Amino acid sequence: MTERVVLLVNGPNLNLLGTRQPEVYGATTLAEIEAAVTALAAEFGLAVRAVQSNHEGVLIDAIHAARGECAGIIINPGAYSHTSIAIRDALSSVDLPVVEVHLSNIHAREEFRHHSFVSAVADAVIAGAGPAGYEYAVRHLAAKFA
Ligand code: DQA
Repeated sequence: MTERVVLLVNGPNLNLLGTRQPEVYGATTLAEIEAAVTALAAEFGLAVRAVQSNHEGVLIDAIHAARGECAGIIINPGAYSHTSIAIRDALSSVDLPVVEVHLSNIHAREEFRHHSFVSAVADAVIAGAGPAGYEYAVRHLAAKFA
């Protein structure tokens, strides 16, 4: 059987993790998060395709490419969570289980972060657990595939 692949998508500004507002987002870098997700996923027999972009269309293209190639999507859309109907529509279009992750608890922050367009099309939403949230997302997908 071919290995299941999980698409890990990180949106704008998340390339700066580690140095970006560490009091909000912590000291862990995106490379460290991607490595931890890849290692944990491997324990469940899952491969990871990691994509980060600051451009909405690149994120949408990556989501489209997951159709037929990936078994599920873990996405932190960053600020696009609060603005992008296009990313939500892309996620709806590919018909894959989606786990939305936010490092910070968006509900405890500014009002404009409380609503995410993505949440309604997500299977699960994890916010405020820091980098561990991505690992919980892997466990959620692995349990679904089991
Ligand atoms: C974020 C929360 C968003 O509001 C913010 O724009 C981000 C990161 C998080 O991981 O907590 O870029 O998605």
